[in-house]
Amino acid sequence: MKTNYPCVASLRTQSLFETELEKLGVEIPFDAQVLSGAESPLAQPFILSSGRKIGNRFAIQPMEGWDGTREGNPTEYTIRRWKNFGRSGAKLIWGGEACAVRPDGRANPNQLMILDETMQSMESLRKDLVAEHRALYSNTDDLLVGLQLTHSGRFSRPNIKTKLEPKILYHHPLLEKIYNVSSDTPVMTDAEIEDLIGYYIRAAKRAQTIGFDFVDIKHCHGYLGHEFLSSFNRPGKYGGSFENRTRFLREIVTGVQSECPGLHIGVRFSVIDFPPFRPDENNIGRMLDYRDENGRYPFAFGGDPEHPENYKLDETIAFLKLLEELGVELVNFSVASPYYNHHLTRPAYFPPSDGYEAPEDPLVGVARHIAVGNELHSHVTRLACVGSGYSYLQDYLPNVAQAVVREGMIDFVGLGRSTLSYPELPAEVLNGRVLDRKRICRSFSDCTTAPRKGLISGCYPLDDFYKRLPEAEEVKRIKRSLKQ
Ligand SMILES: Cc1cc2nc3c(=O)[nH]c(=O)nc-3n(C[C@H](O)[C@H](O)[C@H](O)COP(=O)(O)O)c2cc1C
Repeated sequence: MKTNYPCVASLRTQSLFETELEKLGVEIPFDAQVLSGAESPLAQPFILSSGRKIGNRFAIQPMEGWDGTREGNPTEYTIRRWKNFGRSGAKLIWGGEACAVRPDGRANPNQLMILDETMQSMESLRKDLVAEHRALYSNTDDLLVGLQLTHSGRFSRPNIKTKLEPKILYHHPLLEKIYNVSSDTPVMTDAEIEDLIGYYIRAAKRAQTIGFDFVDIKHCHGYLGHEFLSSFNRPGKYGGSFENRTRFLREIVTGVQSECPGLHIGVRFSVIDFPPFRPDENNIGRMLDYRDENGRYPFAFGGDPEHPENYKLDETIAFLKLLEELGVELVNFSVASPYYNHHLTRPAYFPPSDGYEAPEDPLVGVARHIAVGNELHSHVTRLACVGSGYSYLQDYLPNVAQAVVREGMIDFVGLGRSTLSYPELPAEVLNGRVLDRKRICRSFSDCTTAPRKGLISGCYPLDDFYKRLPEAEEVKRIKRSLKQ
């Protein structure tokens, strides 16, 4: 059954948009007039605690393409995407895309890796992005480019696109059932974790050597870093207490600081989480019910174990304080996981092929991203904060982006899917150009459906380059077959 939330494109005026928000009972700030040039709130530079300047308030979120070589090098598709990141005009490039620190941590056999053997191609990928930015905007002194370091943990598929080879920190009965993972799967040992920490530190060193300004120690979306934060039931030094669950991060950060002086550090993390959602008989997502012997849901960092439908920010705030104490300079707030509750991470009108119809109007999801980001931002003093989940705002993205930054709710507006269909959107906004409506992301989710079916990712509906690829027909065929 298709849900019938009004699509954003049909809310043709500010008043219709605001009336809809009122009906939904959520708030999203909105500036009626979007300013351009030097007076735009989005054009204001941001100075990191180390003194480094970032030229404006747009960030490009990490966006993977499932299009690297088997050896972990970029291909022409990857290079095109990264050049587009440079073209965007955004001055903060958050990580480019998830890059595995070693082969067993790849989310798919085509994920990029940062190894000795890939350093040269990764360096030229970064340089291509910077050159594209320089060609259009002259100045790159105020451009900050990071590399997102990852291990995919329970979502690792390093060898065969369809075959999970999970590395887990604890047993999660719901995810094991959904993903058909045996409950005998061994849990990573403390010694294996210590070994992995070394891989992160060496990966950061490589990133610094080839010119990246910062590394993101990824802790979001159900991947390994995120799983540490919810290892409440894990025994030993990496599980249980808050101190133990953050030990992995602390050891990487202190290792990077000692091995890579001058390299800035960021952390993208899922600030709240919920149990997995599965389609009901009408294909609408419903939260699974699971309680342990104490009547609690024990697997959500930033969740309320007594009331898993709610979130709770006490540990999330403690985590932010820890990041500040450690000298981390940038944070990027995401929520939940695109694998088991995608409507929260990526609010969308159309679900991806492995998903379900959204159980809430996607605008509610956007409002949640903004509200949580605002709340967390009010607790930090030295961290640059990036918000996520703005692409669903579509035509109103500039109005909301300006409002959240102007009101000091967040420091940077991070753009994900909209960058695939319309990379130049930040530059258009900063220069006061009218947006090209035909290129605005309408959240068709083909960029997720394609890789879920083993194809490279891109914006098949709106980007002429992807429209012309043979894969575009394949995506259409897959979507037709799903409707039958
Ligand atoms: C095709 C695709 C690839 C993505 N790749 C990554 C990634 O490599 N690392 C990451 O942290 N998030 C990744 N994300 C999540 C985005 O960075 C972003 O958080 C999400 O799309 C929501 O933001 P948006 O509403 O602007 O799209 C990806 C999302 C999509 C759709």
